[in-house]
Amino acid sequence: MSDENQDSKNPILSAIGTIFIFLVPAALIVMLGIVGAAFLGGTGVEVAEKPEETAPPAAPATVAATTETDPAPTEATAPAEGGAAAETAAAAPAAGGIDPAVMELGKASYMTCAACHGPDGQGLKAGPMLMAPSLTGSELLLGDPDQALLIILKGIAKENMDFMGMMASLGAALDDEKLAAVLTYTRNSWGNSAPAITKEQAAAARAKFADVEAPAGVSRAKIKEIVDAHK
Ligand code: HEC
Repeated sequence: MSDENQDSKNPILSAIGTIFIFLVPAALIVMLGIVGAAFLGGTGVEVAEKPEETAPPAAPATVAATTETDPAPTEATAPAEGGAAAETAAAAPAAGGIDPAVMELGKASYMTCAACHGPDGQGLKAGPMLMAPSLTGSELLLGDPDQALLIILKGIAKENMDFMGMMASLGAALDDEKLAAVLTYTRNSWGNSAPAITKEQAAAARAKFADVEAPAGVSRAKIKEIVDAHK
């Protein structure tokens, strides 16, 4: 009988024992937590910095950082606002010859290109590579004006790793006058010599290439084909 009683009590006792085994450390942890919290709260200033790293204040900082860095990529990929809104530097009467005022405007507008093609038009160095090809002697730049216009308006698709950069559409960054001027400038700098491109040619190209669907730039191999199809 006593054995049975012990047997029936033992589970209860061990249950209580088990509860205590958990309760005691749990109570200790809670107490340590309270003491710790009191300590952290009490010491205030110095310790306050540590919780901040993991606590909510980090969130506004991240948001601020993102919004601060946003404008730069936006300008790089879609320079519409900055470029188009920028002052029209010279009221150049681009007659057909190479007007010095057009060269001036072209040089200023070339800032858009220099980040990749370099201030000297030879391609900016990026380690052992170039960001973009040299513009000296470029067949695509110096040949049919429509080829160069198409490249600026639509960009060139990146199909290999020949260059570090990737030339996206710059059509939104340059109005017709600047588009014409920058090409006239590049066609007549760094040893290049080719007829000026007029803003009328630029406007016509913008209009006729508007239907060219090339969000990632035109394929290099297709440039001539596209130009011929829009004659
Ligand atoms: C973000 C970098 C970048 C910018 C900005 C840029 N380009 Fe380019 N450009 C390139 C790259 C890269 C290529 C070569 C594309 C390829 O074939 O992979 C290229 C190719 C060209 C070519 C063809 C050259 C050839 O013979 O292969 C011309 C012309 C050209 N760019 C003119 C311009 C002009 C003018 C501007 C400014 C209005 C400009 N680019 C701005 C990167 C850039």
